[in-house]
Order: sequence, then C-alpha cells, then structure tokens
Amino acid sequence: MANYDVIVIGSGPGGYVAAIRCAQLGLKTACVEGRATLGGTCLNVGCIPSKALLHASHQLHEAEHNFAKMGLKGASPSVDWKQMLAYKDDVIGQNTKGIEFLFKKNKIDWLKGWGSIPEKGKVQVGDEVHEARNIIIATGSQSASLPGVDVDEKIVVTSTGALDLPKIPKKMVVIGAGVIGLELGSVYARLGSEITVVEYLDQITPGMDGEVQKQFQRLLKKQGLDFIMGAAVQSVETLKTKAKVAYKLRKDDSDHTIDADVVLVATGRKPFTDGLGLEALGVKMSARGQIETDDHWRTNVEGIYAIGDAIAGPMLAHKAEDEGMAAAEVIAGKHGHVNYGVIPGVIYTHPEVASVGQTEEQLKEAGRAYKVGKFSFMGNGRAKANFAGDGFVKILADKETDRILGAHIIGPMAGDLIHEICVAMEFGASAEDLALTCHAHPTYSEAVREAALACGDGAIHA
Ligand code: NAI
Repeated sequence: MANYDVIVIGSGPGGYVAAIRCAQLGLKTACVEGRATLGGTCLNVGCIPSKALLHASHQLHEAEHNFAKMGLKGASPSVDWKQMLAYKDDVIGQNTKGIEFLFKKNKIDWLKGWGSIPEKGKVQVGDEVHEARNIIIATGSQSASLPGVDVDEKIVVTSTGALDLPKIPKKMVVIGAGVIGLELGSVYARLGSEITVVEYLDQITPGMDGEVQKQFQRLLKKQGLDFIMGAAVQSVETLKTKAKVAYKLRKDDSDHTIDADVVLVATGRKPFTDGLGLEALGVKMSARGQIETDDHWRTNVEGIYAIGDAIAGPMLAHKAEDEGMAAAEVIAGKHGHVNYGVIPGVIYTHPEVASVGQTEEQLKEAGRAYKVGKFSFMGNGRAKANFAGDGFVKILADKETDRILGAHIIGPMAGDLIHEICVAMEFGASAEDLALTCHAHPTYSEAVREAALACGDGAIHA
C-alpha cells in the first residue's frame, strides 16, 4: 500500500504519456498494467507491430515490382515468415522496454496486475489497495465482433491474431473495410494471400473524404484486393481448418457465402472498461459504453478522470496521448487543452492516406462556402522518381477568408506530409500562408505547397 498523487490505470499511449507528464509535473505517480509488457494495445498488438509487417511486406512489393525497373536485377526475396514475425516481435520488445526505461527515469511505479477502483481515491491491484488523490482511467478498447461470429484467434481472428498467424493464409476474408481491415489486408495481399474485403457500406473507410475513398479503393483493387460492397456479414461458420462467411447483399437481400482459410474481423472497437468497478462507483457511461467526461477529462465522480479510447472521440493513439498530457496538466493545476479540430488520421497502406479537419462532404452539409486546391503527385518530380505518382493532395479553404478548413492526402508519406497542414491549422493559417512558404525541392512536400497554390492563382506544375 502506498499513497500517490495520481494512479493511471492502463499503460497504452494515453496512459503512459499521462503518467510521464504527471511525473514531470512533480506528482507522485504510479501506472497499473496487467499485460506482461507496457505500451498497451498500440505497442504490443496494434500500431507498432502492424507497421513492422507493413514495412517488411512493402519492401517485398518494391523488390517484386520496381527493382528491375531501376536496374536492380536478381531473384526477388522469398518470405521467411518466422523471421518476419521475429523482426516484428523485436520491434515490439524495443518499444515496450523503452517505456519501462522512461518509467524508471521518471520514477513512476509500475503496479503489475489488473486494476479496479473499489471506492473513490483507491485502486486495487491484486491483493493490494493503493491510495490516490487522482485516478486516470486509460484502459483503451477491445475489438468489437459481430453477432454470429465467434473469434477463436486462429481461424477467425481480430487484429491481435492477424499479427501472429502461424502461416500466411492462401485465402483471407476481411470483414470491414476500415483502417484495420485495409492495413492488415494490404500486408497479406503483398505476402501472396488472396484477399476479399466484405464491407457493409457502399464506400470503404467511412467518414473519409469521398474523392479519397474512391481513389484509395481503385489503388487497392490494383494491388489485388477484392471488394464485396454493400454486404452485411451474417455469420461465420468455422470448420476444421477453414471458415465459411455468410453475408447478405443489401441491394437485393440475396444470401451468399465465401470460404476462407482465415477470417479477419475488423468491424470496429469498443471501450474496454470490464472489471474496473465503474458501475458500483456510479461513473456515468454513454449508451455506447464510453465513459462520459467533461472538457477537462473529469468523470462525474470527483478525482476520477478518463482519456483515450475509453471515452468519446476517434480511437487513435495520438488523440489518447494528447488527452493524457492535458489531463495530467489539469490535475497539476495547469491548463490542459486538446484541439479536437486538428487531429490527423492516417492509414499506413501504400500509398498512405492522411486527413485532418473537415471533409468536402462535411463542408457541403454545413452549407459552408469553400474552395478546393488539388495537386496530383504525378506532377511531383520526387514522386515520379520513386514510383509514387499515384494520389493527390487536396486542401479545403474558406472561400472568403482562405483559412484552411481541412486537408486530405493520398500518396507517398501522406502520414508525415499532413503535419505541416496540422501546424498551419493550429495557427489559423490561410492556404496562402502555406503557398508562400518555401518548400525544398525535390520533396514530396512540394505537392502540399502546390495544392495550397491551387487554392489561389494556381499550381505551377499542374
Ligand atoms: P472501422 O470503424 O474503421 O471500420 C469498420 C468497418 O466495418 C466499417 O467500414 C463498417 O461499415 C464495417 N462493418 C461493420 N459491420 C459490418 C458487417 N456486419 N458486415 C460488413 N462490414 C461491416 O474499424 P476498424 O478498422 O476495426 O478499426 C477500429 C478502430 O481502430 C478505429 O477507430 C480506427 O480508427 C482505429 N485504428 C486506427 C489505425 C490508424 O490510425 N492507422 C490503425 C488501426 C486501427
């Protein structure tokens, strides 16, 4: 039993960042984590391992498709799956150990085990009860499956199982054309699996700018991914080594089935708050199972805060990190702030897809007068040299004031390029501000400047 200023429950990107910021602000801090390693879903079974597999499989794709064009001859590398998984596990280990080091450096106690809150100001971990003036719940989310679909993490898998398959499946059916389905679908498509994505809606990646959705789907099809759109999955039947996915086409209510060696269920995630004891404490929850907070991440119970996937908003690691820092600052008596209007979203396929702010559809719906500046990577010299001409940058700016309202990029390094637009938006910049900023040549970032120029008198290379 010990007394703390703050106990953070959960050590994912929200929790560990909150703990570090609390410690930096002079608060005696502990973090509860029941997994064997720190870092939560993101570092252990999410963002980081998937990026390792995306990187490795992309290298294979380059070798198979582009090396010979550049005069790099020789047989394409073959896949040693065991080694690829070992590389991925090594990357996970480096990252999770990194958090352990940061905890030690910042004198944060790691309370090992699963935490619960027996009463206000107390956190129980195993048999021990610790006292804390403040508690931050950062317990994240878990995969939300479908009725009629039982996940066994062998044949019917969530993203967790998909990152550790014993072998590369011949045929994989992905349920859900969201971020997880398309990232992991891309990995296995590059490694030779036949991929069919079954999606309920008529477009992929719901909520994304319509033009990007269309281009993105076109490019994924070119890479060999097959799509069955407007299809509601009804059930998955598991046989010994195979599965049968039953779906209904929404347009005519017709029933169909499709076989697979592995089925990836990627139909969204839901807050993970099991076992915390929130109901008994009277912590208010929404109908969707999210913990309700005010704009300072305070729940209705004094001294209990909540951040990240467990509360409302996009389920993104960086949104959780920002909330973690801000909640720590609020607890320390400072002014924690998150600008929810400028949270980028990135899909790490090839090409990458990134967006920030409003989509064209949202602006139309709001009846806002806007202008569009668009520039294709085909007009970018660096992209041409690197076989990366597919895609475009699209900037949306207010018609009157020229203030940037949103940006959508599909193309090389989109996930990095988006950030100069985020900074610009944070400062309330106009498209002209971006256009007047000198961009080094030859870089992909020139496409961002050209899109900004296209909001004014026109792009140069279009
Ligand atoms: P998602 O919400 O992005 O996509 C789920 C898809 O499944 C939707 O398109 C939905 O229409 C479809 N669907 C739902 N029920 C269906 C049914 N019965 N039949 C067919 N299709 C159905 O969810 P996803 O991809 O599982 O990701 C979960 C969360 O994790 C998201 O909030 C995402 O933002 C986050 N994430 C973010 C990443 C990133 O930032 N790069 C990477 C991975 C996950």
